[in-house]
Amino acid sequence: MDPAAPLIDPFARAISYLRVSVTDRCDFRCTYCMAEQMTFLPKADLLSLEELDRLCSAFVRLGVQKLRITGGEPLVRKGILTFFQAMSRHLETGALKELTLTTNGSQLRKYAADLAACGVKRINVSLDTLDDAKFAKITRWGRLPQVLDGIAAAREAGMAIKINAVALKGFNEDELYTLADWCARDGHDLTFIEVMPMGDLGEPQRLDQYWSLKDLRARLADRFTLIDLPDRTGGPARYVRLAETGQRIGFITPLTHNFCESCNRVRLTCTGELYMCLGQEDMADLRAPLRASPDDALLTQSIRAAIARKPKGHDFDYSRQKVAGQMTRHMSHTGG
Ligand code: GTP
Ligand code: 5AD
Ligand code: SF4
Repeated sequence: MDPAAPLIDPFARAISYLRVSVTDRCDFRCTYCMAEQMTFLPKADLLSLEELDRLCSAFVRLGVQKLRITGGEPLVRKGILTFFQAMSRHLETGALKELTLTTNGSQLRKYAADLAACGVKRINVSLDTLDDAKFAKITRWGRLPQVLDGIAAAREAGMAIKINAVALKGFNEDELYTLADWCARDGHDLTFIEVMPMGDLGEPQRLDQYWSLKDLRARLADRFTLIDLPDRTGGPARYVRLAETGQRIGFITPLTHNFCESCNRVRLTCTGELYMCLGQEDMADLRAPLRASPDDALLTQSIRAAIARKPKGHDFDYSRQKVAGQMTRHMSHTGG
């Protein structure tokens, strides 16, 4: 096989998007993402930034065009800027089309300008509420003003911003219009996400907090005219435009509308595990082949073997008033 042949999975999907979780740690403890008392990986288990560089570069050589850095919270990893600086060389060669991150926003004041200088043009910030008290409740450790200031810093640095809000029943239902108005005013995209069964949150709680985007969309349509858009940002979101404000809103619907058919991504964890699907337990260890030889031949072979095992999709399903497809790992393990 041509060593640089692109990565194609068993369902003829080309893998062009790599999500890399650079740390499992986070300075927040969002209730749907982490337990309050988390046991984090010993630092010695983490891949070094040089090793992450080698891994990501191998994927870029194999046709990955979009690299999203995630966590935990990616910006709490020590030396992370050096890693972004290193990855920006792939933007310069044109091999990589997009270098970006998903962040909780807490460290953006410190990093926004430097990230922009590395060629990060667009970032996704997780923000489920604009209410101080609710924000403190859902993130347990987070403070809203710090995040809003981080978002302002990213804007000042010239980056486009997409706000990710997990749709949570009884939590942010009443903020649908507030969130939409705030994003429209500041020129941010906004994407809603259906809550997925990741981690050990109890079944009744998960079902209680689930707010389907079918329902959310209908509620949005009570006030706005929704125009379906063909826009794609390379992820699973499907977008509409609100005719009245021009605002773009995305929907990520793993429960109500499966999008696995067009999946183009895999996820690398900070210890070198490659998860071929967010909603399946199977993973491939890339740390061993990475460390076995300074040459990338073995690593490339292991990546190809992993892609050949990529499953068709997740099995998340709440439709029988039960949680199906539950994953034991938390979202922070693979960064969403
Ligand atoms: P864009 O580049 O803006 O399209 O972003 P993205 O949607 O690719 O990335 P982001 O980190 O904002 O992802 C938002 C959330 O979508 C993730 O945290 C996951 O919760 C969910 N998501 C992304 N990819 C998948 C996927 O393959 N399967 C499932 N079930 N959910 C996914
Ligand atoms: N279901 C859906 N989205 C989740 N996120 C974290 N946990 C879950 C979950 N159980 C979201 C975060 C962030 C992204 C990385 O994943 O809010 O936007
Ligand atoms: Fe941290 Fe993001 Fe998980 Fe919240 S969702 S605890 S911000 S990793």
